[in-house]
Amino acid sequence: MRGSSDPLPPEAAEGGRREAAPIGGQFGPDFRDLASCRAELRSTFAERSDWEVELGFGKGRFLVGSAAAAGARPFLGVEMVSKYFRLAARRAASRGLSNVVLLRGEALYLIATLLPAAMARTVHVYFPDPWPKSRHHRRRLLDPRTVDLVLSLLDPPRGRLFFATDHLEYGEAVVETLSLHPAVDVERVDAWPEGPRTNYEAKFEREGRPIIRLVARLRGDGRASLLHPAGRDDLLVGPAPAQEPSASRTSSKTASLQYTR
Ligand SMILES: C[S@@+](CC[C@H](N)C(=O)[O-])C[C@H]1O[C@@H](n2cnc3c(N)ncnc32)[C@H](O)[C@@H]1O
Repeated sequence: MRGSSDPLPPEAAEGGRREAAPIGGQFGPDFRDLASCRAELRSTFAERSDWEVELGFGKGRFLVGSAAAAGARPFLGVEMVSKYFRLAARRAASRGLSNVVLLRGEALYLIATLLPAAMARTVHVYFPDPWPKSRHHRRRLLDPRTVDLVLSLLDPPRGRLFFATDHLEYGEAVVETLSLHPAVDVERVDAWPEGPRTNYEAKFEREGRPIIRLVARLRGDGRASLLHPAGRDDLLVGPAPAQEPSASRTSSKTASLQYTR
């Protein structure tokens, strides 16, 4: 677990792995296509709300290291590059981990189509692709137009998102995006507690490179279901449904109608 004010949970801090029942039994290093096990996966994910989810795990250093130290707590990793997915799957198998599920695929697609809302105690996003060109920002995992998908994984009221990047412009944009989000409180942190690091973080720490790290906590006041205002305002409905629309934000001559919540 991460965050300067959040020490490692007792089971992770112990450093030893407890015996754990295999998650979903059959999901080992023998890969299956999603279509053949979608229903099983969904029910496996929905059984608990304390998953630790890492989006874009790369070579799996943090994910596998954390799962090995975490006893029975379940970990889900999502990675879209096959060679990294297979590398991490081999690492998890060689350590005999039964508390890890890995998915190869695009994270936002999988959140939208497979992963149940509120399944996760923690979501980790470390050194995600920064998509620096502004016309590509909407591809970022944490942009006003995508952040609600990522936050939807978190179980209220305890859910937390951990994020780090060396791309300072992206990092500042994520701080702003999360600060404007009504469902979370954001805290910048200088360093994580002792524990496994991702490949990128270990390398950049050795090099002394500036890193933006932050923790976003779901607010405990029932606002977790609220959407990011900018993402929400990007959504339009047309033509006008029967009920009275808000006339306040018609933005073009084609008069797309936008409804306020
Ligand atoms: C710069 S690497 C960082 C890897 C790792 N998190 C680390 O810190 O060492 C970004 C990783 O995220 C993966 N990735 C980027 N966008 C993704 C997405 N939308 N869905 C799933 N994986 C993604 C990339 O394939 C790559 O492995």
